[in-house]
Amino acid sequence: MIDMSAPLFPTSFICPDISSNLAPDYTLRPLQLSDYKAGCLDVLRDLTTVGDITEERFTEQVEYMRARQGEYFVIVIEKIATGKVVGIGTLLVERKFIHECGLVGHIEDIAVAKSEQGKKLGIKIIGALDFIGKKTGCYKNILDCSPHNEQFYVKCGYSNAGFEMTKRF
Ligand code: ACO
Repeated sequence: MIDMSAPLFPTSFICPDISSNLAPDYTLRPLQLSDYKAGCLDVLRDLTTVGDITEERFTEQVEYMRARQGEYFVIVIEKIATGKVVGIGTLLVERKFIHECGLVGHIEDIAVAKSEQGKKLGIKIIGALDFIGKKTGCYKNILDCSPHNEQFYVKCGYSNAGFEMTKRF
């Protein structure tokens, strides 16, 4: 029997200060399988194309991540009254050779539901991912974003460090 509420990673990686500073009707926690029905993919649809993902495919993807403890940290903010996911973000921890086999955190796929934007949930998601980056031993967190989000990330304490380059396949 699958436990739909088993956290993707240990809850000790959730920043206690950020968690306790959320408004009482929200909760910050690791992704869990029940978040498929709680609309986590719909929140990502505010960011980009997600496609038609079945619950089976979602489960496979979460279990792949769960098997790689210390690498995939997907966090969500749930609105308790509705049981819906209203915010989501990922930290992917990369192991490198440089900087004495250092670790770098990659911040990916940040989204807050349209109806919940402007309530400081986004800044809390980034703060929570920074906490995970520090706790896992990353020497920095990095991210790519479009120019219209630059000021949001500046408010989260990030600075512009160059160009984003891409090649699509
Ligand atoms: N431009 C300038 N300032 C911004 C922007 C923006 N696009 N978005 C938020 N801010 C400011 C807010 O005004 C606020 O400023 P204040 O503290 O002075 O009042 C501060 O940043 C914090 O804002 P939040 O309320 O925490 O932001 P929100 O919860 O709305 O989340 C987010 C911001 C995540 C960008 C949200 O608008 C969103 O989901 N947008 C659509 C998806 C998206 O673009 N995601 C980011 C992709 S980049 C990546 O994934 C690495």
